[in-house]
Order: sequence, then C-alpha cells, then structure tokens
Amino acid sequence: MKRVISVVGARPNFMKVAPIHRAFASDPQSWDHRIVHTGQHYDAAMSDAFFRDLEMPHPAYFLGVGGGTHTEQTAKIMLGFEKVCQESQPDYVIVVGDVNSTIACAMVSVKLGIRTAHVEAGLRSFDRTMPEEINRLATDAIVDDLFVTEQSGLDHLLHEGVDPSRVHMVGNTMIDSLHFARQRAEQSGIHAQIGLQRGTYCLVTMHRPSNVDDQDHLRELIGVVGDIALSMPVVFPVHPRTRKNIDAMGLAVPEAVTLLEPAGYIDFLALMTHARVVLTDSGGIQEETTALGVPCITARTSTERPITVSMGTNVLVNPSRDGIMGAFERFLRAEHPVGSLPPLWDGHAAERIVHQIGILLSAS
Ligand code: UD1
Repeated sequence: MKRVISVVGARPNFMKVAPIHRAFASDPQSWDHRIVHTGQHYDAAMSDAFFRDLEMPHPAYFLGVGGGTHTEQTAKIMLGFEKVCQESQPDYVIVVGDVNSTIACAMVSVKLGIRTAHVEAGLRSFDRTMPEEINRLATDAIVDDLFVTEQSGLDHLLHEGVDPSRVHMVGNTMIDSLHFARQRAEQSGIHAQIGLQRGTYCLVTMHRPSNVDDQDHLRELIGVVGDIALSMPVVFPVHPRTRKNIDAMGLAVPEAVTLLEPAGYIDFLALMTHARVVLTDSGGIQEETTALGVPCITARTSTERPITVSMGTNVLVNPSRDGIMGAFERFLRAEHPVGSLPPLWDGHAAERIVHQIGILLSAS
C-alpha cells in the first residue's frame, strides 16, 4: 500500500484533483490517497461548493492559509505543508495547475526527498509578469514526474532540457471532471433561476490581475461587456478579486448585465454548456469550452494552452475594446472557429496518471 497526497488550494485545482482521487480510491488495496487543502481559496463559493459538486471527500488536512501577499501566502502554505508531510510520511506528492499552492507544496516535498509530480506540466504563456507563469516554471524545474495535457507542454519541457523519461502525456484531468458532471449539469436549475434561455447568452468571467486591477482598464472592459449586452443577454459570475475592485473603484456595471456570485461547478458547467459564446481571461475555461465545442473569446495577450486556439474553439484577442468587439463581431458573422477535441481529452486522464504512478513507484 502506497500513501499519496494530492494538494488543492484554489478554485481551478479542485476539478483537476477530483478525478485523480476517484482513480486512486477505486483501488483501495494499493493506494491510501489523501487530499490536502491549503485554504488559499476560503470562501464557501470558491471552495466548499466544489467539494460537494465534484463529490470529493473532506480533505484529510486543511491548512487554512487564507489571503495575503504572494510571499505571505506561499510561506504559510510551506510551513503548514511541511508539518503534514512530516506527520503523514507520504510516498508520493501530486501538485496540479499553476497557483501559489502548487509551487509552495512542490518546494516542500521535493526538499524532503519525497517523489513529487506536477499535473498540467509544461504549459507556458512566456509572460513572466503573470504569477502563474512563475509558478509553472519553478514547479516544472524541481519535480520528479511531469504529466502533460497537450503537445506544447511536451515540447516546452524537452526544449528546457527535461529528461524525456520523466514526461508523460496523459490528457487533461479537468476534462475528466467535465465528463463526470455533465449529466448533472443538465439538471441544473440555474437558467430558470436567473431567467435566461439556454443557447441565447454570452457568459463572461474576468479575474486576471492584468485585466481587473487597473481602474481604467477594468472600466473599459466593463463598458465592452455592456456593449455585448446590446446584442444578447450577458451573465457574469464575478470573482472576489473583480468584485472587490469594482466596489473599491466605484465602477457602474450596465443594468443589462446579470451579475452573479461565483457559481458552483455544476451550475457553471451548465452556464458554459449552453452559452452562445464565452468571454473570459481564465486558463481553464479556454480548455472547457474547447471540450464542449462552445465558442470562446479569451481577452489576454498570451495563452499557455495554445491547443485551444490551434485545434479548439478559442480565439485570443487583445484585451481592449477593439480586440474584444472585433472578435465578437466575427462571432456574430459566424466566422468563429468550429474546433475539434485535442488528443486524450477523453475523460480518462486521471486513470492514466494513477496507472503510470503505479509503474514508477514499483520500479523505484
Ligand atoms: C488565484 C490563482 C489563479 C487562479 C485563480 C482562480 C495564484 C497566483 N493565482 O488567483 O491562478 O486562476 O485563483 O480563482 O495562485 N479571495 C476571496 N475569497 C477567496 C479567495 C480569494 O475573497 O476564497 C480574495 C482574496 O482575498 C484577494 C482576491 O480575492 O483579495 C484574489 O485572491 P488571490 O488569492 O490573490 O488570487 P486569485 O486572483 O483568486
């Protein structure tokens, strides 16, 4: 029996770890799998709802780190996670994604000599002003095993000199969660609750510091969202960072835009599945819309997930009025890419990861 710890911290981690937990839990003779929640995201809407929607067990450990500067948050996570590792003596640690919890826990486990894997390795935006890019680069530089979602991840790691025997193309565990929850999303009452017809609206999310921390820029983006609302209904579940900034800056959101609290996983999946078009700056939503075949406009200067553009339904646009409205008008003229499904985004990535970890641990 091998003990494995997987780390979750922020919202985009939960859907990546849930299928990994299920895959380990399906073989309890071989695996003792435990989830550690750092508490980087702590609101019920940003965290608890996801455990429920994804049918994840309560975390074995909760570090409760909360907010703070990046340094404070990273340092608190490291201190807490070191104690967890000392107490529970895992054979293997898994970190996912690109948030502060990812690098903080990887640094701890690698230094304790525990074999460590990064799921969603190799993605690069090549924009070092993004905190996530620093987290990705630093994590991939130190972990032992690297599980990759798309070809660009493989290419970047090999280019950076990583030993190919440590890199494994497995597909995308976030798409595993999407398969797991799709049927329940069809039962969601969210459309009736907010009075929206399926297939008629634009779904908006915005939370990247580069888009929402500067007052003039955020005002411009909210104006653009208001302009889109002249053509079709707009629904906008608002991330806490964006909400705080809108309030602090005293910005007025046009009445035609339906603002929501951050949605749970099932309701958000229902909103995304039946959107006519999605406008976002998220990482994960670029991939989910590609898997669902829903048109996506990403308001960012770079993407670390280029397969969503080369194969999927994603277009990347300058996050300005001209950039976004240009793409929106092309969408209205039916000039948006139709897209197809990237290789191995089939709902079985977590099973491949667990199978591979079994091979790696039995050989070591
Ligand atoms: C983090 C991740 C980002 C991810 C995003 C998804 C890092 C560096 N960034 O950014 O990659 O896409 O989560 O949500 O790890 N807050 C709450 N409640 C919460 C969480 C945060 O009110 O549950 C507040 C914080 O106090 C802060 C703001 O929201 O004022 C932003 O939180 P922060 O932890 O800085 O990161 P995110 O912007 O959420």
